[in-house]
Amino acid sequence: MSTIGLTIFGLTALLALTSLLPPLASRMRLPYSVLLAIVGCGLGLISTAQPLAHRAVFDDFIIALRHLDISAETFLYVFLPALLFETALSINVRRLLDDITPIMAMAVVAVVICTVVTGFFLSAVSPFSLLACLMLGAIVATTDPAAVVAIFREIGAPRRLTILVEGESLLNDAAAIAIYVLLLGALLEGRPINAFAAIGQFLFSFIGGAVSGYLLGRFTATLFALVRGWPTAEITLTISLAYLSFLLPEHYLHVSGVVACVAAGLTIGSVGRTRMSPKTFEQLDGAWGQLGFWSNSLIFLLAAMLIPQTMRDLTWRDVVLILALYGATLVARGITVFGVLPLLRGINRNGDIGGGMKAVMWWGGMRGAVSLALALAVTENPSIDPQLRRFIATSVTGFVLLTLFINGTSLRLLMHGLRLNQLTARQRAVKDRSLAMAVEEIRNRIVDIADRERIDREVIDEVAGDYSHQVTVNQAEQDKRGDLSAEDLLSVGLTVLSAQEDERYYNNFKAQIMTRHIAERLLAQTARLRDAVRAKASEGYLSAVEESLRLTRRFRFALRLHQITGIDRPLAAALADRFEVLLNQRIVLTELIAFARRRLTPLIGTEAVTAVIDLISDRLVKVSAALQALKLQYPDYALELQRRYLGRIARQMELDSYEDLAQQAMIGGEVLSELLLDTKRRWSGLDERPRLDTELTATQLIARVPMFHNLSAAVQAEIAHLLHPRLVIPDEVIVRAGERGDAMYFIASGAVTVKLPGRSVELGSGDFFGELALLRGQPRNADVVALGFCKLLVLSARDLQPLLARDRQLRERIESVAAERLGTALSRN
Ligand code: CMP
Repeated sequence: MSTIGLTIFGLTALLALTSLLPPLASRMRLPYSVLLAIVGCGLGLISTAQPLAHRAVFDDFIIALRHLDISAETFLYVFLPALLFETALSINVRRLLDDITPIMAMAVVAVVICTVVTGFFLSAVSPFSLLACLMLGAIVATTDPAAVVAIFREIGAPRRLTILVEGESLLNDAAAIAIYVLLLGALLEGRPINAFAAIGQFLFSFIGGAVSGYLLGRFTATLFALVRGWPTAEITLTISLAYLSFLLPEHYLHVSGVVACVAAGLTIGSVGRTRMSPKTFEQLDGAWGQLGFWSNSLIFLLAAMLIPQTMRDLTWRDVVLILALYGATLVARGITVFGVLPLLRGINRNGDIGGGMKAVMWWGGMRGAVSLALALAVTENPSIDPQLRRFIATSVTGFVLLTLFINGTSLRLLMHGLRLNQLTARQRAVKDRSLAMAVEEIRNRIVDIADRERIDREVIDEVAGDYSHQVTVNQAEQDKRGDLSAEDLLSVGLTVLSAQEDERYYNNFKAQIMTRHIAERLLAQTARLRDAVRAKASEGYLSAVEESLRLTRRFRFALRLHQITGIDRPLAAALADRFEVLLNQRIVLTELIAFARRRLTPLIGTEAVTAVIDLISDRLVKVSAALQALKLQYPDYALELQRRYLGRIARQMELDSYEDLAQQAMIGGEVLSELLLDTKRRWSGLDERPRLDTELTATQLIARVPMFHNLSAAVQAEIAHLLHPRLVIPDEVIVRAGERGDAMYFIASGAVTVKLPGRSVELGSGDFFGELALLRGQPRNADVVALGFCKLLVLSARDLQPLLARDRQLRERIESVAAERLGTALSRN
C-alpha cells in the first residue's frame, strides 16, 4: 500500500474502532478515557508484533499503525487546538464568568501548588534538578474533568460545582502549559529562574494570550455577518479561528497560544452565539462535538499506543519514582481541594460543598492526553539530557496510567461508598411526584384523543389501563414513604416550578421570542435558583431571588464608567439588558402562577400550592417594581420592547401556520419558502435591539428642570457646561449626613428622600438638594437616598457661584428654598 494509503488506513481504522468504544465504556461502567487507554496500550502491543504474512489486511493494519508515527508537534498543533476550542465552546460562558474568580483561583493556584509540591518533593528523592522536577510538576498539573463531571451529572450535584470543575480544567490546561513553556525555556538555556521575572513573563503570556484570543474571536464574530445564512461557512470560520488563534499570537506576539485558543472559543461561545440563528448554532455545536470527539479519542489512543514502548525497560527505581510522583500530586490536589477551595468566598453561597463532593473532586483529578503530549514533547527534544528525557517519559506515562486505572476505575465505588448517589427523601419525592404527574397527564391525553377519534372503548381501556395502573402504583409508593413535611412539599413545588421556568425561557429562545444573550442570563439565573432550593429550600429560594434582582456587576461597572468618563454606551446596553430580563421574567412568572394553580395541587397539596404561589407572587411584585422603576425613566423604551415582544410572537405564529399549511399539503415547498422568506424580511427589524437613549446629556436634562426654563437659550447653553448629568440607582445614598459637601444636585427626573432626624421629606422632578452644605460651608445635614432611578444634574461646589452670578432669579430661588429648609430644620431641632 502507498504511504498515504497506509496513513489513511491507520487513521480511519482507529476512528472506526473509537466509534465502538463509547457504548462499550458505558456498558462496562468505565470512564471512556480509561477504556481508550486500555485499547491504546493493546494497539501499541499489536503494532510491535511481527507481521503475519498470510493475513494481508491484518499485516497492513499493523504496518499502518507503526506508520502512524505521531510526533508531539502533531499532538500539540493538530489535536490540542480542536480539543481546547471545543471544550471552551461548550462551556456556558455566563456561568463561567459568574464564578470566574474562584475558577481562576482554582485553576492557577492548583497548578502552582501541584508544580511546587511535586517539584520540590521529587527533586529531594530523585537525582534530577529542581528546575527539571518543577517542569514535571507542571506537566502533571492538568486535569481531565470528564469522569468527575459525568459523576456529578449522575448524582445531580449542584451545577455550580460542575462549572467549577469544567472551568478549572479548561483554564488549568492553559496555565500549566504556560508554566511548562517557561520552565522548559529556562531549562534549555541553563539559567537559574528568577521568580519575579518568571511571574511577570507568565502574566504577560497569559493575559496577552487571553486578550489576543478575545480580539480574534470578536473579529470572527463580525465576519459571521458576511456569511449569515450559510451555516457551513460559519462553521468553517470557527475551525480556522481555533487553529489561527493557537498559532498566530504565539508566533508573532510570543504570548500563550493555548490561552488564546481557549479565549477565542469562549468568545465565540458567548458573543458569536448571539450573532447566529439557534439552528445554525445547533449545527455548529454538532460539528464541534464531532471534532472534539475525534481529537480526544485520537490523542488518547495514539498517546496510549506509545506506552508499551516507553515502559519496556522499566526498573524498580522508576516504579518508586512514579509512586512518589503519584503521592505528591495527591497531596497537592488535597491541599487545593480541602485547603484552598473552602477559602474562596462566594463558592459556599448556596450551601457548603459537602465533604463527599470534595472527596470526589480530589480523587477524581485524573490526568490525560495533555500531560502525555507535553511529556512526549520533552522526550523528542534532543537538547535535553537523555536521562531526564527517559525519566519524564516513564514517570508521566506511568503516572497517567495510575490515575486512570486507580482513580478512574474506583471513582464510582467511592461515590457509592460515600452514598453520594442516594437521593435524599426530598429528591426522591420530587422524582416520584413528577413521574406521577407525567404519567397522569399521558393517561388523560390518551383518553381525550381516543374519545375525539372515536376509538373503541376496549382499546382505550387497554392502553390507558396501563397508565392507570402506574398511577396507582406510584400513589402506593408515595403513601408507603409517609408524608413529607410542609417545608419539603414547598421545596418540591419550587423545584418543579424552577424547572418550568427554565423550560419556558428555553422555549421562548427557540421560538426567537428572546435573544440568546437574554435567554442565557435568565437560564443561568434559574440554575442558581435551583441550586439554592436544593441547598436551603425556600430560604435559599428567597435569597437567590433577592440576589437575582440586584444590579449586575456589569451594570455597576457601566454606571461608574459613565460617572467618571461620561461614556454612556455600556450603560445604555446594561439598562436595555435589565429591561429585557425583567420584562421576560415578569411574563414567565405570571405564567408560572397559572401553572402552579392548575397543575401543582395533585403533586403537593393545596396548602403547599398556596405557599408556593405566595412566594412566586411576592417575586412577581418585586420584579414588577424593578421594571416600573425603569419604565418611569424610560417609558418609550418600555413600549418599544413590548412592541417587539408581541411582534416576535406574531412572527412565530405566522411561521408556524405556514409550516402547518405545508404539512397539510395545502401549499407547496416553493410557496412555503417564499412565504417564510417574506415573513422574515417583513419582521427583520425585530432582532436588532433598539438603542436605548440614556437621556443623560446636560441639555436634555436642563429642559426638564422648570427652574431653568426662564433662562435665555444663551444662558442655558452656558450653564450646560457647569452641570454634569448623572444616573443614580434605586436606594443609592447620594448625600451622607455629616460629610463635607462638594456638590449640589438638581433632580431632572425621579424622586429622592431626605432623611431628617425623625422624619423624611420626598423631593421630586424639578427640586434640588445638597445646597445647604455649599451655601453655609457646613457638613451635610441629612442623608439623601434615591427612591428609584433618577436623573440628576450635578453642580460642583466650585461652579456654584458662577452659576448664581448668572441669574438673579435663580439665586433668589435657591437661597429662599435653603432658608426655608433651614428654618424648618431649626424649628424641629
Ligand atoms: P445638605 O445639608 O448639603 O445635604 C443634605 C440636604 O438635604 C440638604 O443640603 C438639603 O438640600 C436637604 N434638606 C435638608 N433639610 C431639608 C428639608 N427640611 N426639606 C427638604 N430638604 C432638606
